[in-house]
Order: sequence, then C-alpha cells, then structure tokens
Amino acid sequence: MSFLAGRRLRRPRMAGWSRALVRETQLSPSDFIWPIFVIEGTNERQPVASMPGVDRLTIDLAVAAAREARAEGIPALALFPNTDPARRTEDGSEATNRDNLVCRTLSAIKEAVPEIGLVADVALDPYTTHGHDGVMAGEEILNDETVDILTRQALVQAQSGADIIAPSDMMDGRVAAIREVLDDEGFEKTIIMSYAAKYASAFYGPFREAVGSGARLRGDKLSYQMDPANHEDAVREIEQDIAEGADWIMVKPGMPYLDICRMAKDRFDVPVFAYQVSGEYAMISFAGAAGAIDREKAMAESLMAFKRAGCSGILTYFALEMARELNR
Ligand code: PBG
Repeated sequence: MSFLAGRRLRRPRMAGWSRALVRETQLSPSDFIWPIFVIEGTNERQPVASMPGVDRLTIDLAVAAAREARAEGIPALALFPNTDPARRTEDGSEATNRDNLVCRTLSAIKEAVPEIGLVADVALDPYTTHGHDGVMAGEEILNDETVDILTRQALVQAQSGADIIAPSDMMDGRVAAIREVLDDEGFEKTIIMSYAAKYASAFYGPFREAVGSGARLRGDKLSYQMDPANHEDAVREIEQDIAEGADWIMVKPGMPYLDICRMAKDRFDVPVFAYQVSGEYAMISFAGAAGAIDREKAMAESLMAFKRAGCSGILTYFALEMARELNR
C-alpha cells in the first residue's frame, strides 16, 4: 500500500456529510435569470412544441409567473415577445414602439412585482419580416443603421421598467451607443449586460420557434454572430464590450462554450453570465422524456457546471423548476 503514500482521494467521497463539507460549488435560486416568452391576449398559455414544459404566456400570466419566481428566490426575468406577424416589418420598427408587447409586459411586471429584476433583450429579430437581428440591404445586415434603431429600442425598454438592457444583436458599437442614449435620457443606473460572446449556433432553433422568427429567417447569422471555432474572437468581443461600457457580459450558448466562460472569468474583471439556450433545454427535456437520462439530475448537473466554470449567474429555462427543487 506504500505506493499511495497515505493519500486516498476517495476518503472524502465516502459519505454525504463529507462530500457536502468539501463541495467547491453551490447552486442557489439566486443564480438564475428566467427567460419568459410573451404573447398578446389574456389568461392564455401556448406550449412551445420544441421546448416541452415551456409555454408562451399572456401578460397577466407573465405577471403571475413573476410572482412565483419571486417567491422561489429567483432574482430576475428575461422577457421575449412573440410579435404579431402583422406588426413585423423589414426594419423592425415595432421594436421602438413604447407600447409594444414587451414594453407593456415590462410595465405590468414592474408594477405588480417591483422587487424582481427585469432583463430586456435588444435585437430586431422578433420584429423583422426576415428574422434577422438587424436591418438589411440586399443580403447584407447593416451595422450602423441597426445600432441607431437598437438605441431607440433600448430606450423604450428602459422607460417601460427594464432594469437590465441586454443587447443580443452582435452589431459593432452598440454597447457604447446604448450607454450614451441611456445616460442622456436619465437612465444612468440601468445595467447593460451584453451578449458579448454570442456564437452562430444551431442550439437557438427552439427559441426561434418560440418567438416566431425561425421559419422566416432568410439565410443565416454568420456575418454577425461568432464562428463556433473561435476563442480569440471571444476575447476581443468581451474586451470591446467592456471598453464600451458593459457592466456584465454573457456567453452564449452555455454548455458547449464552458471554456469561453472560464476564460472570461479568469481574464476579465466583470461578472460573467451564461445562457443555457433553448436547444440545450430541449436536449435535456427530450432525452429525459425518452428515458435516456434522468431529467432532474441532468438539469442540476448542467447548471452546476456553469457555476464551476466561473459564472455569476445563468439564464435558464429550468430556473423555476430548479429553484423549486433547491427550496425543497
Ligand atoms: C435574439 C436572441 C436569440 C436568442 C436570444 N436572443 C436567437 C438568435 O440570436 O437567433 C436565443 C436564446 C435561446 O436559444 O434560448 N437575438
């Protein structure tokens, strides 16, 4: 036995109490931001077929969901509208309508549940006929023209009660432009959490179904979202967003990009968030339903992995389910 030199790494793994004592990472309901899809109408929930267990909610039910989230200790919600197709245009101008679906949802939740933080996504894809995050000229997504619209979108969201503005569009210069407009208009306390390292991913499929932009998407998002092969590009994107004034940064998708989360945490002095996206949720849900994996265990393990990788928080469709589990 001398080859062990007395060291047995299995010793602390033998009992639950000793595993608990040396556990390096903790998961808590306060780690989660819960993304919610909203629709027009009242007292209606529409299941999202590719995301079993996730429904699109009317504003009144979104308010009820916010109360539930608050009761379970979830700090914040992220809101995504499924816009009436009649309100979609080439330039996505509905995004800047102070009375659009997401703005009304923000106001309603802010009034009913003021203690919960509200994240508003800045990008044009829920509002454009072509499903892109920006305006198009021919096949090109125009950068500066898009940024101009995004600043107005961010402003109406802040005016409606958004606490956190989250640009997910990946245009160059949008963080600085949004910061300037927010500050000029008296929203200097509004947080910017930028989707800094956002990859052109196949894992967004179910989300696009949920907001109704999947079937309309013309082409792909490779000219603005990042190449999944790249690491250095993520360093540059994060550096740039911080220089432009991002308070927090996000990595997206989550699980396939944990190396990027860890790099961001080690290299930059800002809180890092990960988005466990719709396709990740779908994989775990469908595999669980098929009996291939244990849904609850896989959910908990996947979320713990983000904490281990250095994330301050996680945007996850499992937020309510996991919080309930943790509170039991
Ligand atoms: C919009 C946006 C997307 C997601 C969040 N904001 C889709 C996309 O960029 O195509 C994806 C979230 C998810 O898949 O859960 N720009």
